[in-house]
Amino acid sequence: MSLLIKNGQITTAADQYFADIYCEGETISAIGRGLSAPAGSEVIDASGMFVFPGFIDPHVHIYLPFMGTFSKDTYASGSRAALVGGTTTLIEMCCPIRRDEPLAAFNLWNSQADGVSACDYSFHMGVTRFDDSVEKQLREIVGRGIASFKIFLAYKGAFGIDDTELFHVLRLAKELGVIVTAHCENETLVAELQRRLLADGKTGPEWHEPSRPTCVETEGVHHLMTFAELTGAHVYIVHTSSDDAIQAAVAARRRGVNVWIETVVPYLVLDETYAQGLSTNPPQRAASHSTAAGDEGKKKPNFNGAKYVMSPPLRARRHQDAIWNALASRVVSTIATDHAPFDFKGQKDMGRDDFSKIPNGIPSIEDRVNLVYTYGVKRGRIDLHTLVDSCSTQAARLFGLFPRKGTIALGSDADLVVYDPNYRGQISQKAQQMNVDYSAFEGWPIEGRPSLVTVRGRIQAQDGKFVGELGFGKLLQRQPTHF
Ligand code: URP
Ligand code: ZN
Ligand code: ZN
Repeated sequence: MSLLIKNGQITTAADQYFADIYCEGETISAIGRGLSAPAGSEVIDASGMFVFPGFIDPHVHIYLPFMGTFSKDTYASGSRAALVGGTTTLIEMCCPIRRDEPLAAFNLWNSQADGVSACDYSFHMGVTRFDDSVEKQLREIVGRGIASFKIFLAYKGAFGIDDTELFHVLRLAKELGVIVTAHCENETLVAELQRRLLADGKTGPEWHEPSRPTCVETEGVHHLMTFAELTGAHVYIVHTSSDDAIQAAVAARRRGVNVWIETVVPYLVLDETYAQGLSTNPPQRAASHSTAAGDEGKKKPNFNGAKYVMSPPLRARRHQDAIWNALASRVVSTIATDHAPFDFKGQKDMGRDDFSKIPNGIPSIEDRVNLVYTYGVKRGRIDLHTLVDSCSTQAARLFGLFPRKGTIALGSDADLVVYDPNYRGQISQKAQQMNVDYSAFEGWPIEGRPSLVTVRGRIQAQDGKFVGELGFGKLLQRQPTHF
């Protein structure tokens, strides 16, 4: 099987030029002008299009037992959605609960993807307990090609670990050269604030943010930084939502802590007014960058905001500007999704009388690249190279996939996104591949979309449709790189 993509504008984190790309089997075997292909090859004319390396989403939840329910996607729906949106590799959080054995959990998570996923995938191994047996199992899991851990400083009683465990996980990670991804919020403060708000009768989704203010996130970052400084471990802060948290990480970086920062697409385009139920879609203001929605004066906070409950919460609008700027200056390395789909009816409404029971998560695996392109690149917030860097290359570098993934180069996997900048359309739940009953971005205009998406040389999505093969995706082997 061979594929020739002609006349596209190849755009990577570092370069932009016109050339053809020839893919022999699963890899890129030639890049140049005027290439020809043997008879029988598939030839695609990419005139007027960008050709990007396949995008990598380094923070997704496909299989997630959480808050008394399960996230809605399977690897069939989740990988189809990823591919239609230009994402060719997923790194999922494997999230056992405290009493689970890591190896059994890893096998369970892998069994959800194996033979089903249409795109390539790997896992960050969640560490939700630490003892001798867990340590032994973690060593084996790293040996099986999983070069990163995930820890939670939040979710008391579910995924959260204590400080002794935190210290020992980081020490092991340092020894093994694996990077530790971390959810940073102080779980004790969250629990106390939730209790106080609920006791005061503050039960609606608009109280989710006040139960987890930016200082609670910043304390989590500062806490992790102290432990990383003492152990020398390499750490990666997931879903960073606030300027304050970024500043805490930057301060630690200045004193030599090996820390990288991820944000996720909801924080870039949504703000707290959505979780209050006050903002309406489509967002005139998101397109124009005017200030907060004009409707708040008339509307009252309402339960529609539950669709926008995630942790850390959506913040005040000023944080968006800070995060975009931090991306433009490469202070923030990656844009993931933290895709965690829960239906509004039957799942989010479990928290109708108590915001702390609303399953946390906003689905966006399908929309990330189009949103970043439309509301980032087209609005002049970041350039195209930063889009590629933050949505693909940095994840490949940090998580042991580069240069197999994350770039367009000879010998790299032929994961390619032919992107049509002339497409105009709107996001809608009805048209989406994600298996969830709402879109957080219903009606939002999109000014570009993937026209063709390949995974290791095979065309898997075309013009908003999945046209590929489920089960084609592979578990990627990753080697530790952070010694
Ligand atoms: O609200 C969120 N972020 N849901 C998914 C679980 C997590 O904390 O990443
Ligand atoms: Zn998290
Ligand atoms: Zn997450």
